[in-house]
Amino acid sequence: MSYKQQVATHISQVLTQIGIEDFTEERVQGMLETPPNPQMGDLAFPCFQLAKSLRKAPPMIAQELSDKISLPFLKEVQVAGAYLNFFFDQEEVVVSCVNTILTEGATYGSSQLGEGKRVPIDLSAPNIAKPFSMGHLRSTVIGNALANIMEKQGYKPVRINHLGDWGTQFGKLIVAYKKWGNEEKVKAEPIKELLTLYIKFHEEAESDPSLEDQGREWFKKLEDGDQEARMLWQWFRDESLQEFNKIYELMGISFDSTNGEAFYNDKMDRVVDLLEQKGLLSESDGAMVVSLEEYDMPPCLIKKSDGATLYATRDLAAALYRHENYDFAKALYVVGGEQRLHFQQFIKVLQKMGYDWAKEMHHIPFGMMLKDGKKMSTRKGKLVLLEEVLSQAIEDVLKVIEEKNPNLANKEAIARQVGVGAVIFHDLKNYRLNDINFSWEDMLTFEGETGPYVQYTHARGCSLLKKGNYKKSEVKAVEGAFEGAETWAVVTTLLQFPEVIEKAGDQFDPSQIGKYVIDLAQSFNKFYAHVRILAEDEDVKQARLQLVEAVLIVLKEGLRLLGLQAPEEM
Ligand code: ARG
Repeated sequence: MSYKQQVATHISQVLTQIGIEDFTEERVQGMLETPPNPQMGDLAFPCFQLAKSLRKAPPMIAQELSDKISLPFLKEVQVAGAYLNFFFDQEEVVVSCVNTILTEGATYGSSQLGEGKRVPIDLSAPNIAKPFSMGHLRSTVIGNALANIMEKQGYKPVRINHLGDWGTQFGKLIVAYKKWGNEEKVKAEPIKELLTLYIKFHEEAESDPSLEDQGREWFKKLEDGDQEARMLWQWFRDESLQEFNKIYELMGISFDSTNGEAFYNDKMDRVVDLLEQKGLLSESDGAMVVSLEEYDMPPCLIKKSDGATLYATRDLAAALYRHENYDFAKALYVVGGEQRLHFQQFIKVLQKMGYDWAKEMHHIPFGMMLKDGKKMSTRKGKLVLLEEVLSQAIEDVLKVIEEKNPNLANKEAIARQVGVGAVIFHDLKNYRLNDINFSWEDMLTFEGETGPYVQYTHARGCSLLKKGNYKKSEVKAVEGAFEGAETWAVVTTLLQFPEVIEKAGDQFDPSQIGKYVIDLAQSFNKFYAHVRILAEDEDVKQARLQLVEAVLIVLKEGLRLLGLQAPEEM
C-alpha cells in the first residue's frame, strides 16, 4: 500500500470513529493533495468537505483531527488553516522504499487486479502486399506496451496480429500479377513489387474498367477455395510476412496469434446465419446490411451483392471466435482513429445480437504520424518505409557511439537497442490520441525527453555501481546518507510507480509510463549532480548506491513495459 493510501485509510478510519461514515478510503484518497512546496509537507488534506457533516468551521475540524492522527512514518501533522499538512519521517520512508524495491526487484509495481483473466489485444495488423505503415507502427508499439502493462496488472494478454490478408484487393493483385508480374522480382523485393503491381492495376483500371470485374471474380474464386488463387495468395502472404517479421524481430515483438482476416473465411457463414436467425439482416441495393438507424449510424455492411464478405463481417467472426476461445475480461483493438466508425458499428451489431460481453470490447484509437504537418503516407511518391526509419535510427546512434565511446563492446547490438528504442519512445511519450510530429532530432538526442536519454541515464547508474564497488547488503538507516531535497525527490518519484502503472492500465495510456521514466531520469540526474554518491564514508556510499540500484530497477522495468531495452553501457 502506498503512503498516500495508508494516510487515506487512516483518515477514513478516524472519521468513522467520530461518526462520519461517508468518507471512504477512496474518497479521502481523492481529496489528498500534494502541497505546492515541500515546506508545507508531503501530503495535505483539506477539511472543507467535512464542514457540513460536522457542522463546524473547517479550520476547527483540522485542529481536532490533528491530535487523532498518528502513523509510524509520519513525523508531524501541522494545521494550516483548513488544511492538515503531513510531514513524513523522510529517512524512514527512504529506507523502507529502497528496501521494498530491492526486495521486490522487477516485480515492484505489479498487482493482481487482472486476476489472471485474459485480454486479447488486436495490434499491428499490417496489410499483406502493402508496406508496413506508420499507423501500423503506432498500433504495434502502443498495443505491445498495453499488453506489457496489463500483464503487470495481473491480466493475461493475448497479442493478436489480425493481418489484413483477405479482401477484394487480393483479387486485384492476382489479376495484376497474372498480367504483368514477374516471379523473380516479387521474390527479391516482395512488398515493393506487389505494391507496384497494385498501383499499376489501379492506373490501368481507369481506362479498362473490366479489370475491376476480373478482380472481383478472382476474389470470389479465392473465397471459394480455387487452387490457383489460393496458391498465389499464400505466396504473397508468406513473402510479405517474412518482411514484416524482420521489423518485429528488430523491435523484439512477438505475437500469440497471427490469425488474420483470412482465418475467418470459413467462420463467416455462421455469422451471417446468426444475423439472419436474429432477424437483423436487411437488404440494401442488393447488399446485406444490419441497420443501425436507431443509433444514427450508417448500416453495417455484411455481404456484398456478389456474395463477397467484408471487413466488418470478418471482425464479427473474429469477435465471436475470441469470445469463445479466450473467455476474455476485456478485448482491445489498437487501431487508428480513422476506423472509429467501423468499431462503433460492429460493436453495436454484437450488442444487437444480444451479446452482453460486447461492452467489454474497446477500440483504442490513436492519432496520426505527421511529417511537416502532413500525414506520413505509404502511398506512391512519398513512401516512407518503416524498416528504413529503423535502420536510419540505428545508424545515427552508431555514429554517436563511435564518436563518444569508440571502445564500447557490442557497439552494433547496443546501437540497435538504442535506435529502435528511440523510435518506440518517440511514439509512446505522447498521449496516443495526439498526432505526432516525426522528427529525427526529437527522437535521437541524448539530452531531451527521449528514449536514448532514459537509457543513457540507466547506463550511467550502472557504471556508478561498478565504480563504487557496490555490494548488496541489508538496507538500513545510515546517518546522513539520505538527506536533502534531491534524494527526497527521487524517492517520492520511485514511490509513484505503482500508481502510474495502475493509471496507465486503466486509461489504456502508455504515455503515463513514458512521462514517468523521464521524470525519474531527470530527478535521478539532479540527485547525481548534487549529491556525492561515491562518498568518502563507505557506509554512506553503499547506502546511496542502494538507492541508485532501486532507481535502476524501476527505470529498467519502466522501459521494459514500453518495449525498450536498458543496456548497461552505452
Ligand atoms: N489491417 C487493418 C488496416 O490496416 C487493421 C486491422 C485492425 N484490426 C481489426 N480487427 N479490424 O487498416
